[in-house]
Amino acid sequence: MAKPTIKELLTTAPQEQTVEVLGWVRNRRGSKQVAFITVNDGSTIHNIQVVVDLNQISEEQLKEVHTGASVRVLGKLVPSQGSGQAVEVQAQEVEVLGPADPEKYPLQPKKHSLEFVRENAHLRARTATFGAVFRVRHHVSYAIHKFFHEEGFFYVHSPIITASDAEGAGAMFRVTTLDLKNPPLTQEGEVNFKEDFFERPTNLTVSGQLEAELMALGLGRVYTFGPTFRAENSNTTRHLAEFWMIEPEAAFYDIHDNMDLAERFVKYVIRHVLEHCADDLAFLEKRLLDEEKSKKESERSPMPLIEKLNFVVENAFERLSYTEAIELLLQSKPQKKNQFQFPVSWGIDLQAEHERYLVEKHFKKPVILTDYPKEIKAFYMKQNDDGKTVRAMDVLFPGIGEIIGGSQREEDYDKLKRRMEEVGISTEEMWWYLDTRRFGSVPHSGFGLGLERFVQFITGMGNIRDVIPFPRTPGNAEF
Ligand code: 4AD
Ligand code: MG
Repeated sequence: MAKPTIKELLTTAPQEQTVEVLGWVRNRRGSKQVAFITVNDGSTIHNIQVVVDLNQISEEQLKEVHTGASVRVLGKLVPSQGSGQAVEVQAQEVEVLGPADPEKYPLQPKKHSLEFVRENAHLRARTATFGAVFRVRHHVSYAIHKFFHEEGFFYVHSPIITASDAEGAGAMFRVTTLDLKNPPLTQEGEVNFKEDFFERPTNLTVSGQLEAELMALGLGRVYTFGPTFRAENSNTTRHLAEFWMIEPEAAFYDIHDNMDLAERFVKYVIRHVLEHCADDLAFLEKRLLDEEKSKKESERSPMPLIEKLNFVVENAFERLSYTEAIELLLQSKPQKKNQFQFPVSWGIDLQAEHERYLVEKHFKKPVILTDYPKEIKAFYMKQNDDGKTVRAMDVLFPGIGEIIGGSQREEDYDKLKRRMEEVGISTEEMWWYLDTRRFGSVPHSGFGLGLERFVQFITGMGNIRDVIPFPRTPGNAEF
């Protein structure tokens, strides 16, 4: 039988049966007579309490039981004397598997700042906050697969190495080959990176969309779920150089089907997390409330975390066009009083301050903006009849901003080819993409959800570096 986790032990009926507890010591306290050791194994936010009668197990045997040490405890599962949990373990044997010197172990049982824990990122899975965040991230990922499976979408694996720049954004990580033992040198003595492995320059993908389109135009409904890379030098709380994106793509879907799908999708995943991560969310909500006590009233979130998640699930997202949004912004107080850093006019790329105004001040709920000016969106979006806008859709969330970007795709061969030429994308290199519009082209749509921004919203974590196990940001790739 599988070894029971602490999560399982905590919900087992206590009948003085002998159990084995395996985990890391969170804290130790007690008196001369009795020691209380709290142990956590990552399976749950809750610790199990081990009670040691010091008349039976000597202080000497416990001398290495400090915060951070790994332990194996054999004992009896009994009803807990204290409040807060149903069971505890009366120790019969305590064995330290791996000690942690209390003088040196960085994560002591006091409250550490997130900055401090980030500096000790190799150990942060051992903390309550990061345990909760990464369990929630798991449940989010699981619910994403479950949702698409139930909606008849197939999971397709798009490549990481690619020759195309799917977003036409221009900033990508280049893939080169290098013999590390014997690096070829240029005449100047510098390392000569070879680019001929794929016979042409290749990059790390910025999006699996183009490949997802190829698959959707045969399999019907597909989605990708994988790492994507952006070589933009953005040091913000919302940007990573490596992030995970979920990109559904569906044949015969128009922009309205696409918006409905996006709204159904995020609500489904949030509902799943509310149902399956109640304890972790309660912990994260309390953490956030504590953190916000030191903030100004205006910087605090207007609703506690769980109430906010329920609110999003229960209310329809606001849908309006970019043009309508610009009109609202032009009439807004901040615009009239020159309080926006970037002044508003039709054609601008909306800045975070504009999105925040719409979502947090005006509508006070998630917003889907559609029909953006074609100049600020990617070449593949379906052109509207007005000649100025494209059938784009961005989903904006309170406190986060854009979490989803998507569109109906241009299915007309001539229009797509013309647009590619206008923006300088090689129609020769992208012949395979254009081919899908030459043969059996159909209306189709899709979008990309940034996993980390979504997990930020669900967990209330302020910095994107704190919702991915190993963040990749400019200058940060050690482990
Ligand atoms: O809006 P983006 O760039 O859209 C695409 O890549 C499309 N190909 C998607 C599609 O239609 N299939 O990115 C989509 C989402 C954003 O809304 C954001 O949530 C996230 O990806 N994202 C980032 N997340 C973290 N760090 C970054 N540097 C991000 N860039 C985009
Ligand atoms: Mg976008």
